[in-house]
Amino acid sequence: MTLEEILNLATVIPVLTVEDDARAGDLARALHAGGLKVVELTLRTPAALKAMHAMQDAAPDLVVGMGTIRTPDQARRATEEGAHFLVSPGLTPGLGEALAKTGIPALPGVATASEAMAAREQGFCALKFFPAEPAGGIAYLKALHGPLPDLVFCPTGGIGRETAPAYFALPNVACVGGSWIATGAMIEAGDWDAVTANARAAAQLK
Ligand code: 3PG
Repeated sequence: MTLEEILNLATVIPVLTVEDDARAGDLARALHAGGLKVVELTLRTPAALKAMHAMQDAAPDLVVGMGTIRTPDQARRATEEGAHFLVSPGLTPGLGEALAKTGIPALPGVATASEAMAAREQGFCALKFFPAEPAGGIAYLKALHGPLPDLVFCPTGGIGRETAPAYFALPNVACVGGSWIATGAMIEAGDWDAVTANARAAAQLK
């Protein structure tokens, strides 16, 4: 799947941190039932890669990206394990090279105009704006559109269901990421009805 296809399918991208891969299948089904088609699973727990496989098995239509990619090795490993796309919180020249080499779509993280321009130089036109709220939020992204009209962003970090609609109103926002759809506590509690309800509300925001 191309990056463009993924961004077209994505509305809110739930950012998921899974401690226990035994919960991943139910989580995937709950998100899918709510109408979300693209998710980011963070590489922050020992269970992350197993959880990715479990999610892909449980909901074959779900596009499962691996997030929190910080090193070239992690980019390679997540790709070998079958991630559908990669997301990073920031970007270094080495990581950019590794992301490009994987051959799968990537959303590298940036927080400033200079970082966005450096990412563009490395060939990335769709970027994660992270951490969105602390880095300047809606006003900052709006200001980037004038000088950098060829870039689109997936703002993530500190965004919730109340603030997401204002991001979607910007011309340079392709999707919005956030952990509020399925928080760690909801996943741990197996509160799948709440996850589906949040997913359903989020799916209608774009
Ligand atoms: C991320 O990794 O993208 C963030 O931790 C998600 O940010 P949020 O928890 O503020 O939504």
